Amino acid sequence: MESSRIDAEITLMVDGSSRTLTVDTRTTLLDALRDRLGVTSPKKGCDHGQCGSCTILLDGRRAVTCLTFAVAQDGAQITTANGLAGHDGLHAVQQAFLDQDALQCGY
Ligand code: FES
Repeated sequence: MESSRIDAEITLMVDGSSRTLTVDTRTTLLDALRDRLGVTSPKKGCDHGQCGSCTILLDGRRAVTCLTFAVAQDGAQITTANGLAGHDGLHAVQQAFLDQDALQCGY
């Protein structure tokens, strides 16, 4: 049986760092970030676009990574919860995580 796997090289700018990797074109952005790049702040909750725990900023707009193909984001700017902090401390979203004990699910 012939495989339908097609690989592609992509480069993502993740929290200010350029990251290049080869992905199966069916790989979600969530799996590419977590499993391939070790970026664990986007969480896999429902894996169906409903819970929001995998949310990032993708070129400045909110996106759920479990419903986004990595290959379609070649060259994109990605900001995760980890990348929100500025030089003067935690971002308001990060502080809200701590204040509300929202760490378990990543909301
Ligand atoms: S994992 Fe729930 S919306 Fe992506």
